[in-house]
Amino acid sequence: MCGIVGIIGTDPVSDRLFEGLKRLEYRGYDSAGIATIVDGRIDRRRAKGKLANLAERLREEPLPGTVGIAHTRWATHGAPTTGNAHPHATDEVAIVHNGIIENFRPLRQELEARGRTLTSETDSEVVAHLVSEAIEAGKHPREAVAAVLPRLHGAFAIAMLFPRYPDLIIGARQGAPLTVGYGEGENFLGSDAHALASLTQRIAYLDEGDWAVVERDSVQIYDRDNAPVERPIVHSGASAALVDKGNHRHFMQKEIYEQPMVVAQTLKSYLRPLEEQVALPDMAFDLAGIERVAIIACGTASYVGMIGKYWIEQFARLPVEVDVASEFRYRDPVLLPGTLGIVVSQSGETADTLAALRHMKQANVTTAGIINVPTSSMAREVDLLLPTHAGPEIGVASTKAFTCQLSVMAALAVNLARAKGRLSAADEAEIVRHLIEAPAALNEALAHDAEIEAMAHTVAAARDVLYLGRGPDYPLALEGALKLKEISYIHAEGYASGEMKHGPIALIDDNVPLIVLAPSGPLFDKTVSNMKEAQARGAQVVLISDADGIASAGEDAVATIEMPRVHPLIAPLVYAVPVQLLAYHVAVAKGTDVDQPRNLAKSVTVE
Ligand code: F6R
Repeated sequence: MCGIVGIIGTDPVSDRLFEGLKRLEYRGYDSAGIATIVDGRIDRRRAKGKLANLAERLREEPLPGTVGIAHTRWATHGAPTTGNAHPHATDEVAIVHNGIIENFRPLRQELEARGRTLTSETDSEVVAHLVSEAIEAGKHPREAVAAVLPRLHGAFAIAMLFPRYPDLIIGARQGAPLTVGYGEGENFLGSDAHALASLTQRIAYLDEGDWAVVERDSVQIYDRDNAPVERPIVHSGASAALVDKGNHRHFMQKEIYEQPMVVAQTLKSYLRPLEEQVALPDMAFDLAGIERVAIIACGTASYVGMIGKYWIEQFARLPVEVDVASEFRYRDPVLLPGTLGIVVSQSGETADTLAALRHMKQANVTTAGIINVPTSSMAREVDLLLPTHAGPEIGVASTKAFTCQLSVMAALAVNLARAKGRLSAADEAEIVRHLIEAPAALNEALAHDAEIEAMAHTVAAARDVLYLGRGPDYPLALEGALKLKEISYIHAEGYASGEMKHGPIALIDDNVPLIVLAPSGPLFDKTVSNMKEAQARGAQVVLISDADGIASAGEDAVATIEMPRVHPLIAPLVYAVPVQLLAYHVAVAKGTDVDQPRNLAKSVTVE
């Protein structure tokens, strides 16, 4: 959740550290800081709020120094104040930390009992003091770190510098990602390859429990038993260019508009249009042996899992369970032989999803991952990587990753169905034809942007909003509500349309807009009946449907949004567009921070 960069170089580092932080701002933006060694002492600049505030601090008081560490924070322990901003420091060490030190309370009590004064409310500061104590007792930083790491419980990535040892920085990883970057006469640490992209393309990923002593001309990596180890140096491939918004006002808007292109790009690697077949990358196991499926993910990605359940059960006739990752491993799930465990994740670093993946691997479950960041921890650990080709997603609210994940999920469902002998060649060809139509249909959906913008004020004034859908459009209703909540701060809930009269209908009055997702198809009439029940009680309906649907059921709606007529299979992809645009325009109308909404971060690397 927090982002880390470290440089040990020969030229001043603070500008380049700041540039690295810009690439990591998606991980958290409630405070940031940089520490360097200046004249044998630690010097720091820290600022509450977004990186622009740190930039201002650095302008007021530039930070020299050729060795430095930097951090962008998403607060877990301690409010987002300047005092809680990293780096945390003593006279002997400065540290930046991503993750949670779960046993920080007893460690803090122990340190305070020994007379040490901690100045922040963070869990991270205990690490600085423990390492500092060991150095004060005469240990070299290398020995101090080796002694302290086993005392830390929880998930962390840490970078440290030592004013009396200006020729090294040390990084450590357990449960949160950290990479070493290799330069010419200078070396680096970073949360991911992207953070280091403008510094070097030569990187090594630390394994769980690894820690690294990074000097200007050498790097020594140790495993959790302190044995020296080699980790392969690979070409990162991460683009050095900072992604920009182009002509768009926000990254989210740009990413919504990129969907026809990135969905086409993603589908291209899974469809063989001439043969009218779907193809997956080579795999080391046989899909025919799969007897059941468990899909695990968080947030928007978990709604892809729910839609996947409808598709896999319908096409492949395999039982599917879907769990939010934070619940999965703590309920000790029954994982029977023949299970395919699928994780879905844009970042590939979400802590709960990664832990669920590891839980499944430990239980000998075959795993697949629908993942957007190919260098991420999950991408490296799944048995079968099913990449999405959405490109970097910068807006905190996930948009293009969602539709790309759905595209891959559809391809996987079809492959499973074929492998299980449940799908004829003719049916597969028909599905392929519908999937090929998806990018054009997404374009048609985008053409209704102006109408959606024009009606957004009906929703912007509301305190509560309900979304309804049936079948695969039910998870989309959940997604619509999530999008609206996270960027416009309006309370919203998604319901399966048939559930309305089992409780939520009590919420209906003429101040609660009801957004109904009802593409023409087998479930249309049922959804419309539920909509009518709500309208009879004063609901202000916004109906999202195609021309036929609007003609037959739109007369009493306060607004209608017309979508192209599409096959029910691709409806969740196409109907994602109005749901995203509606949330976007409502947020713009309310003047919220669309790309960096309050309290959120793009990549959730803590539990
Ligand atoms: C919502 C959103 C989140 C993420 C969730 C999982 O717009 O972005 O709900 O979908 O945090 O993140 P990934 O996909 O990176 O595992």
